[in-house]
Parts: sequence; structure tokens; C-alpha cells
Amino acid sequence: MTAKEKEKGFATRAIHVGQEPDPLTGAVSVPIYPTSTYVQEEIGKNRGYEYARVSNPTRDRLEENLASLEGGIGSKVFASGMAAINAIATMFKSGDHVICGHNLYGGTPRLFNQVLANFGMEFTYVDTSDVNKVERAIRKNTRMVFVETPTNPLMALSDLQAITKVCHARKVEVVVDNTFMSPYFQQPLALGADMVVHSTTKFLNGHSDGLGGVVVCTKKEQLEKLAFLQKAAGAILSPFECWIILRGVKTLAVRMEQHDRNGRAVAGFLANHKKVRGVFYPGLSDHPQHELAKRQMSGFGSMISFETGSLKNANKMLRKVRVCSLAESLGGVETLISHPATMTHAAVGPDGRKKIGITDGMVRISVGVEDVDDIISDLDQALDAI
Ligand SMILES: Cc1ncc(COP(=O)(O)O)c(C=O)c1O
Repeated sequence: MTAKEKEKGFATRAIHVGQEPDPLTGAVSVPIYPTSTYVQEEIGKNRGYEYARVSNPTRDRLEENLASLEGGIGSKVFASGMAAINAIATMFKSGDHVICGHNLYGGTPRLFNQVLANFGMEFTYVDTSDVNKVERAIRKNTRMVFVETPTNPLMALSDLQAITKVCHARKVEVVVDNTFMSPYFQQPLALGADMVVHSTTKFLNGHSDGLGGVVVCTKKEQLEKLAFLQKAAGAILSPFECWIILRGVKTLAVRMEQHDRNGRAVAGFLANHKKVRGVFYPGLSDHPQHELAKRQMSGFGSMISFETGSLKNANKMLRKVRVCSLAESLGGVETLISHPATMTHAAVGPDGRKKIGITDGMVRISVGVEDVDDIISDLDQALDAI
């Protein structure tokens, strides 16, 4: 990205960086290059592309675009959010120690504890919303702190500036999973983080029609290691999946504005509903970290969790929704509603869930961009079933 491009606004960069018209034909939509290999003129002479696991022009364009949106020097995309997180973890080695938030997306501790721990990596889970707990957990062999803020599904925030300050003083890198907020509402690299990861499956793509993951870097060495991992381990994103993210990201700014407006309205409705026993949303003034949310994020987004009181109550209401779809995942234009205890956080186990406060009655909603009155009346009639 040139210095001039850096000065442009977010929505302009989402639509234009990496999305320049095709030099060959003028096509305004980035071409999809479905090729496994590239012809070479003679031994060692090619046009910068040799084999598609190593690089692909559609992928290059997406990597340029997402790096610009997060304010990084470059990015690397992978076959899913988990493949991206796995790539980050495999930048480290046996004996290295990682500190993680204790309330991450359930698939992340599953990867860390059930796969990577078998190769000698060590993981400690702490409540990263308390920076002192992060500092106390740092050891000689700690290489990375892995944070999600807000957390899934409890919507607890971590102070990224405070964490990076403490970690950098001890030469520990900070990696932020920014999936919930998207770069539109939260810019972890500007707050000091060293790398950002996303499940592009969610808000970046935005249409619930493809998986993907990205790691955005601040240093050349990180990019080189990740490029090597794309080549060596091969969990790259296909050209078609790259293209649908390039298409989805063009509307990220307008979608996020609408997600945020709808999210605030739905959170307000739930907070005043007599059948709802608690709402977790950083935009509510009684959220314990509302002030940090206002400082650290430029919007509150559309992820909300609420308490129905029991598994039975949760199921009663979830069976009744019609505009909202009962499904895993989040960040699509359609409102998705889910049950963390049996879906995203089933792998954490009952004891693990109890420890961090995920109850059987908790329901999570990813508010879409439909007419908000329709979402609210759907939730209202579903809550009547309790
Ligand atoms: C915060 C967060 N990070 C990572 C992931 C994993 O992403 P994917 O499903 O694309 O592998 C998810 C999936 O729900 C998530 O919610």
C-alpha cells in the first residue's frame, strides 16, 4: 500500500485496495485465477508465479486488501479461521509458552490443548480482562499472548493498550482475534498488537457463504514465516473463496454501521424484557467495561448474549424463532441465533463452562441487517414461549 492509499478512508480502501481494475481487460471485479500452476519461459524464468500453493493473483489481491483494512504491512490468508490460528501457533516451537484468554472461541483451546500440546507447546489460560493476571502468567519461555476482545459469548473486554505495554516490556508478542468487531470497529495493531487474526467466515465475508481466515502482520519476519507455512503446510484459501471475500468486504463499512444500529436496538429491547435475566453487550451503559468499549472500539457491533434461565427455556424460545435462524456462526447479513453450551462451547466441557460463566440458559445472537422491527418482534414472540 502506498502512503497515498494509507490516507484514504476505510470504506474507500475496502472497495479499492487490491481491487484495482484488471490491467489486462479493465474488469472492475478482481479475476478469479483457478490454476494450479503457471507456465515458465525457461528454467528459473517466470512472471512471479510458479505454483498455486505458494501464490495466486486472486489471493495476493485479498491479502493486500485485508492488510490495508487492519493497518498491517501485509497479510496471509488460510482455508479457515482455525487454519489461520494454527498457522500462528506453528510459528512457535516445542517448549514455547502461550498465554490465552480463558474465554476464547471453543475451537481455539481445542486446537491448543488437544493438538498442539501434544507437540510440546505449553498453554496457560487467564482472564485477560485483568492485565495483572496476564503479567503474572508471563514466564521465561512465554512467546505470545492470544486475546479475543470482546469474548465469545460473554462479551468481556480486554484492554489492548495495557496488555501490549506489559507484554512488550517482557518481549512477548500480542495476537488479537478481531473476528467479533472487524477492523471497522476495532484496530488492534494501532493499539500496539503484533498480529491480528480473523475468521473471515464472519463479518469480513459477511454473507455466510464461505470459510476463510487471515493473519495480518506488523513485521516482515512474521509475513515470511507465514508465507513459508502456506507453502510448507498448504492450508491456503482457494481463489474462489478469496474472491467472495473480496466481494463481501466491499460493503463491510455499510454492513457494520447497520449491524451496530440493529445491535443497539436489539440489546435495548432484550434489556427491558421481563423474561430476559441478563444481557451481555458492551454498548449497554451497565456493561462493566462500557467505558473501555467506548475508548477502544468505534462501535459496539451486533454480538449479544442473554440469559433465559435454563436449557429448557433456551430451547423453548429457540424452537420458535422464524426471522432469526438457529445456527452456529455469526457475522452474516442474516440474524443467527445460537446456544453456546451445546454449540460453540460444547468442546470446553461443563466444568470449563462453569468456571468462565457460560450457563445452559445462555443464548447468543449475531444481529443481522434485516429490518430491526422484524428481528425484535420475532424475538418477542419467541420469548413468549418461556
Ligand atoms: C472468534 C472466532 N475465532 C475463530 C473462529 C474459527 O473460525 P473458522 O470457523 O473460520 O475456522 C471462530 C468461529 O466461530 C470464531 O468465532
